[in-house]
Amino acid sequence: MNSGVLIAFEGIDGTGKSTQCRIFSELLNKKKITNQIFAEPTKGKWGMKIRQLLTEGRKEISPEEELEWFVNDRREDVENNIQPALNAGKVVLMDRYYFSTAAYQGALGFNPEQIKIDNEKFAPKPDRVLIFHNPPEKSLERIESSRDGKSAFEKTDYLIDVQNIFKSFTGSKIRFISSEGSLKEVHKQVLIEVQDLFDQKL
Ligand code: TYD
Repeated sequence: MNSGVLIAFEGIDGTGKSTQCRIFSELLNKKKITNQIFAEPTKGKWGMKIRQLLTEGRKEISPEEELEWFVNDRREDVENNIQPALNAGKVVLMDRYYFSTAAYQGALGFNPEQIKIDNEKFAPKPDRVLIFHNPPEKSLERIESSRDGKSAFEKTDYLIDVQNIFKSFTGSKIRFISSEGSLKEVHKQVLIEVQDLFDQKL
């Protein structure tokens, strides 16, 4: 069924993962490799509810509800976008996927491993998961500078927990990529970490 290739770009904000995802997509275009980027949270009905949460804060929304919204959003994304693109043999690039749920909602107290297991019941497993991370002092700087930022998703202690969960992920598909270095250097690292998924030289 899954004839395409699925690659997830993950990590806390400020690691440049979205930019790297876009640059990688542009390279695939140049190589005439059909690909699509899907970002989560999406712009669908659950994604819009989530965005409200992000801008207005968590308020009276329970952690259970929050987790459910992200999962519902992903369910739609899998059904409407991800699975059809994979079935069409495309390379699918996820700008965040269920590893974000495991890390961000895991940091609310849920078991990250259980979140992964629950998501894998409906969401195709990626062929590669790239987890972008900043050097510790840069991360902290980023996190600190967003202290008065837009939401509860950006509070220092919370993001440190999120990052620690990201760092704890293990498995044959997981690769950690340091965001230290120029866009070009990080891009090169991305290519090294995914080359084996492609027949042609990237
Ligand atoms: P983000 O990728 O920053 O979206 P945008 O660039 O459009 O603002 O994602 C928004 C926030 O949502 C980010 O702080 C991480 C959080 N998030 C979760 O908490 N759980 C999830 O499952 C996903 C996909 C994102």
